[in-house]
Amino acid sequence: MELRFVGNSGLQVSAIGLGTNNFGGRTDEAGSIRVVKAAIEHGITAIDTANVYGGGLSEGIIGKAIKGERHKLVIMTKAGMRYGQGPHEGGASRLHLIQAVETSLKKLGTDYIDLFQIHFPDSLTPIEETLRALDDMVHQGKIRYIGSSNYLGWQSCEAAWTSRSLGLNSFISIQPHYSLYHRVPERELVGFCKAYNVGIIPYYPLAKGLLTGKYRSGEEPAEGTRLHDVRFQGILNDANYEVLGKLEKFAGDRDHTVLELAFAWLLARPQVSTVIAGATKPEQVQANAAAADWRLTQEEVAELDLITERYIADPIE
Ligand SMILES: NC(=O)c1ccc[n+]([C@@H]2O[C@H](COP(=O)([O-])OP(=O)(O)OC[C@H]3O[C@@H](n4cnc5c(N)ncnc54)[C@H](OP(=O)(O)O)[C@@H]3O)[C@@H](O)[C@H]2O)c1
Repeated sequence: MELRFVGNSGLQVSAIGLGTNNFGGRTDEAGSIRVVKAAIEHGITAIDTANVYGGGLSEGIIGKAIKGERHKLVIMTKAGMRYGQGPHEGGASRLHLIQAVETSLKKLGTDYIDLFQIHFPDSLTPIEETLRALDDMVHQGKIRYIGSSNYLGWQSCEAAWTSRSLGLNSFISIQPHYSLYHRVPERELVGFCKAYNVGIIPYYPLAKGLLTGKYRSGEEPAEGTRLHDVRFQGILNDANYEVLGKLEKFAGDRDHTVLELAFAWLLARPQVSTVIAGATKPEQVQANAAAADWRLTQEEVAELDLITERYIADPIE
């Protein structure tokens, strides 16, 4: 498995990472532990979670799954998403972040978090307060590196300059929604990340499973799959299937699958550090880990960019 540096830092992560927002929710504890063990077996070192995933259960499950292996792994968690009505049940205030880190450390069964990410920008808390709280926790040894998630280009730039002016640790990464079907980061964020050497950790890389190729036009999604849930079925439309057909042909002509293409295209984009796909079964994580081996040429990337160009202005959600 290829290792990549995260932005302008010495932190190295596996090119394919593991997302875990299904742990403790759609995937039960035993199934989740099997997925983590398969990920480690196939060379994945980067595991992404958040205090709110699986209704708060994901971190605890990971803690159990990584016992004895923790030192080999890069544990990336987050806080900041709102989970209650109380003033500090979410957000990026000093008060909430310190509480959240203490809770995450206990659940994960570790005494440090490798990459601690702010889940969403918080317009009610000054960025200086957020960055000072994070910097303090880096100095206390509770956090090794800090990152952001869902920040816009200007918010990322404001954070970078705040850290720089005050001599604080700065975000080494950002986690945006990014895939062949959702290319919004290319409007502005990627330009910022290139200029400031910030690593990109794309989420929803498989477009919630559409890019696995297991959904077919005119067929009901199989029971138990993510898109069997009617709430997500809006993306299963003719226009998206037409593009899927082109992507499948492109991959098939090169003896690859569209799943492998989804990873290979992201890994060919500037600044991408690790691509975190969720998995509900060990065999999925094995297939995803194998995708790291395909390197696209510049010409191939340009062709794919053209096929999916519409998803810069009009992405799927
Ligand atoms: N920062 C944020 O705001 C944010 C938001 C969302 C997610 N995330 C992170 O990003 C991660 C990835 O997102 P995601 O897991 O929701 O979406 P995703 O990677 O686009 O889709 C993953 C889903 O596709 C299916 N799948 C995965 N590998 C497969 C394979 N090899 N063959 C067939 N099906 C396969 C699985 O679903 P089924 O088996 O159920 O069909 C899996 O749950 C999350 O786990 C989380 O860590 C971050």
